[in-house]
Amino acid sequence: MVSLLRLLLLLLTLLTPLTLADCECGYLATITTSTSPTDDPNHPLNTTTALFTDLLETDFTRLPLPPPDPSNPTAYVNAFHTTEWAPQSFNLSAERARGTYGEMFDPANGGAGGDGVQLVVRGGGLLVDGMVPVAELDTRRLDVGWGSFRVSMRVPAVAGTCAAFFWYFNDTQEIDIEFLTRDFHPSNATFPINLVLQSRASALAGFDASRTGPQTFIQTHLPFDPTASFHEYRIDYLPSTVHFYADGALLAVMSGAAVPTSPGHLILQHWSNGNPSWSGGPPAADEAVLAVRYVKAYFNSSMPARKGDWQRRCGDPEAPGAVCVIPDVREGNDSAAGWFFGDQRNMTNNQTVEVGGESGGVRLGGWGLWWGWLVMGGGA
Ligand SMILES: *[C@@H]1O[C@H](CO)[C@@H](O)[C@H](O)[C@H]1NC(C)=O
Ligand SMILES: *[C@@H]1O[C@H](CO)[C@@H](O)[C@H](O)[C@H]1NC(C)=O
Ligand SMILES: *[C@@H]1O[C@H](CO)[C@@H](O)[C@H](O)[C@H]1NC(C)=O
Ligand SMILES: *[C@@H]1O[C@H](CO)[C@@H](O)[C@H](O)[C@H]1NC(C)=O
Ligand SMILES: *[C@@H]1O[C@H](CO)[C@@H](O)[C@H](O)[C@H]1NC(C)=O
Ligand SMILES: *[C@@H]1O[C@H](CO)[C@@H](O)[C@H](O)[C@H]1NC(C)=O
Ligand SMILES: *[C@@H]1O[C@H](CO)[C@@H](O)[C@H](O)[C@H]1NC(C)=O
Ligand SMILES: *[C@@H]1O[C@H](CO)[C@@H](O)[C@H](O)[C@H]1NC(C)=O
Repeated sequence: MVSLLRLLLLLLTLLTPLTLADCECGYLATITTSTSPTDDPNHPLNTTTALFTDLLETDFTRLPLPPPDPSNPTAYVNAFHTTEWAPQSFNLSAERARGTYGEMFDPANGGAGGDGVQLVVRGGGLLVDGMVPVAELDTRRLDVGWGSFRVSMRVPAVAGTCAAFFWYFNDTQEIDIEFLTRDFHPSNATFPINLVLQSRASALAGFDASRTGPQTFIQTHLPFDPTASFHEYRIDYLPSTVHFYADGALLAVMSGAAVPTSPGHLILQHWSNGNPSWSGGPPAADEAVLAVRYVKAYFNSSMPARKGDWQRRCGDPEAPGAVCVIPDVREGNDSAAGWFFGDQRNMTNNQTVEVGGESGGVRLGGWGLWWGWLVMGGGA
C-alpha cells in the first residue's frame, strides 16, 4: 500500500517539468511479480518496485556505426572504441561449442542496419576452418549487479540460429533469453522463447538447462511474431528471483539455488553450430540478421566507487525528482521504447549514456574500469 502510494507520487514527480528531476537517487523499476490477476483492487497489477543506482543506456540506432563489411571489420570495431560495447573476437572449436561445427565470433559479422546494430550469422554453406561465422557484443562494464535489463530486438526469420540476450558472470551464473529460429512456425503462429538460468545443476546436466526443471528452464510462447518487428525483452535480476518479460508482460519467474549472486555483464549474441538439439542450422540462407535497437539497463553496481558516488549524490531519496520511475514498454503501448533518460535534461548525471546527439544528459569525462576507459554521458 505504502509502496503504491509512493509509486504514484513518484509518477507525479516524473510528469512534472523534467528539469526538476535529476534521478540522483536512482531509477525505480516496476516489477510485475505474478501473471495471475489479484483480488485486491489496490494491487490490480500485483507489482512491486526496485530501486537501482546506475544506468546504462545505448541507442544503437544513433551510434555512428558502418554497415557490415566482412572485408573491413576494423571500421566497425573502431566505431565502438568510445562506447560501452565491445564487438567480440574469439573462436570456439566444435567440441568447445558443443556443436557439429565450431563458432567464429568475428566483428566482420556486425554492423549498422537501417534500424540499429546487426549481428549476422553467415550460412549458405560458408564455414571457416569448420566454424560458422557468428557475432557477439559485450558491455565493457563488468559491475552489473541486481538490475532490470531491457533489449529491443528483431529476431531473424531464417531457421537455424540462436539469438540471445544475456547477463553473464560465468558458465554457472548466467541468465539467458534465447530464441531458436528453427522453432518458429508462422503458419500456426508458434513463436517459442527460451528462458534459462545456467547453474551448477545445468553444468552437471552438460549445460542442457532443459533437463534441470522449471526453476532453470522455461520455454514459453510469445503472443506475437518476434521476426516481424522489434519487441522489448527484459530480465529483472533480483536477490533470489529472476523475472522475464516480453513487451512488459511477465513471462516467467525463477527462484532458488540457480539464481546468480555475482555482478556480471550484458551480452548480445547470435550464433549457430549445427547442434541438432539447440541452434540447429547453420542456416541455408547466406545470412541471418539479428537487429538490436537499444539496450537499457538499470542496476546496482558492485564497484565500491560507484556505491560511494551514489551515497554522495543522493542527498534525500524523498526529495522531488530524486528517484525517477522508469517508463515501461507495455503490451499495445511501446511509446516508452523511444524514450531515453539520456535525452532528458539532467536525468543521467554521471551515468553511462549513449543516445547520440547534443541533447543528451550531462556528459562527464571518462573514468577507468578494469578494461580501461569508457565514455560517460551523452553519447558518442
Ligand atoms: C541538475 O541537477 C543538479 C543536482 O541536483 C542541480 O544542482 C542543477 O541545478 C540541475 N540543473 C538543471 C539545468 O536542472
Ligand atoms: C502477487 O505476487 C506475490 C509475490 O510478490 C504472490 O505471493 C501472490 O500470490 C500474487 N498474488 C496473486 C493473486 O497472484
Ligand atoms: C540498490 O542499491 C540501493 C542503494 O544502496 C538500494 O537502496 C536498493 O535497495 C538496491 N536495490 C536492490 C534491488 O537491491
Ligand atoms: C579464428 O579463426 C580464423 C580462421 O582460422 C582465423 O583467421 C582467426 O584469426 C581466428 N580468430 C581468433 C580471434 O583467433
Ligand atoms: C562461477 O562463480 C561462482 C562464484 O564465484 C563459483 O562458485 C563457480 O564455481 C563459478 N563457476 C565456474 C564454471 O567457474
Ligand atoms: C505448428 O506447425 C509446426 C510445423 O508445421 C508443427 O511442427 C507444430 O507441431 C505446430 N504447432 C502447433 C502448436 O500446432
Ligand atoms: C562519476 O563516477 C566515477 C566512477 O565511479 C567517479 O570516479 C566520479 O567521481 C563520479 N563523478 C561525480 C561527479 O560523481
Ligand atoms: C503509454 O506508455 C507511456 C509511457 O509509459 C505512458 O506515458 C502513456 O500514458 C501510455 N499510453 C497509454 C494510452 O496508456
